[in-house]
Amino acid sequence: MKILFCNDPFDVKRPNAAYLKEAEAAQKAGLSYELFSFEALLQENSAALAGLPQLDTEETVVYRGWMLKPEQYTRLYNMLLAKGWRLINTPDQYKHCHYLPESYSIIEYHTPLTTWLKTGAEIPILAVHEILRQFDSLPIIIKDFVKSQKHYWHEAFFIPSAGDRESAEKVIRRFIELQGEDLNEGIVFREFVEFESIGTHSKSKMPLTLEYRIFWLDGEPVCQAPYWEEGTYTSAAPPVEQFQKVAKEVQSRFLTMDIAKRRNGEWMIIELGDGQVAGLPENADVEAFYKVLAAFPA
Ligand SMILES: Nc1ncnc2c1ncn2[C@@H]1O[C@H](COP(=O)(O)OP(=O)(O)O)[C@@H](O)[C@H]1O
Ligand SMILES: [Mg+2]
Repeated sequence: MKILFCNDPFDVKRPNAAYLKEAEAAQKAGLSYELFSFEALLQENSAALAGLPQLDTEETVVYRGWMLKPEQYTRLYNMLLAKGWRLINTPDQYKHCHYLPESYSIIEYHTPLTTWLKTGAEIPILAVHEILRQFDSLPIIIKDFVKSQKHYWHEAFFIPSAGDRESAEKVIRRFIELQGEDLNEGIVFREFVEFESIGTHSKSKMPLTLEYRIFWLDGEPVCQAPYWEEGTYTSAAPPVEQFQKVAKEVQSRFLTMDIAKRRNGEWMIIELGDGQVAGLPENADVEAFYKVLAAFPA
């Protein structure tokens, strides 16, 4: 198994500064890595992988870098394959964890009640009302198929009552406005669940909940770490084993699962992500993470 990082656009032989610590940890663990140009990939420039050797025997490669849209991931996947490198997740597997509606049926009983609507900047307002009606006057949160505007909690994320159409519409419109060109596929509506509080974010003041990120590789946990850099993590380690069964059902070799503790003590999945593009939390043990990857059979 090899690792693929983005290069530094100003010094293409070096890993991008944002991933330098990971590149060093990978090397220390005995994993070799290669570099490519993220910018060239986005520009559909065929020179994106210019520095990569052509392999005679196919090898598995794990990308560690920024999020890609599924089309971009597919392009990277195919370009790598032409050189003998096979990304750990197929384009379908990538999309499965990247877009919440794709994997919802698998995590349904472990995550807040969710529904969604495909849309662009022009919101089909009648369809939105139809969805809001399903939540009666319950509080809900919104995001797109990938990301939220959680730091704009009151403005563009949290809707205190789905029954208050006017306020709900205002939050939805602000969310769409903030996402702008980056809107992923549509809007996801989720029942708001009371999670255990660990404080508020120092900059945005959003409420922080007791949440952990778990990385799974072939159904085995490879790393777990507090999701937030700040806040007071009081409770003991998260119940990783409780989520192994569902992690094995997710159609992906390498994924992340964010789990949070409810006020009633039960743990729930907040979201899944592709393990290649999910950030390692600030407090994760980077060296241990790469040591576990290095020990895995390709
Ligand atoms: N259904 C929910 N009920 C209550 N809080 C939630 C819910 N979903 C998410 N949150 C809180 O909002 C934060 C952001 O939500 P998340 O779905 O992870 O968005 P993003 O993809 O932008 O990180 C989570 O870390 C959690 O603290
Ligand atoms: Mg999140």
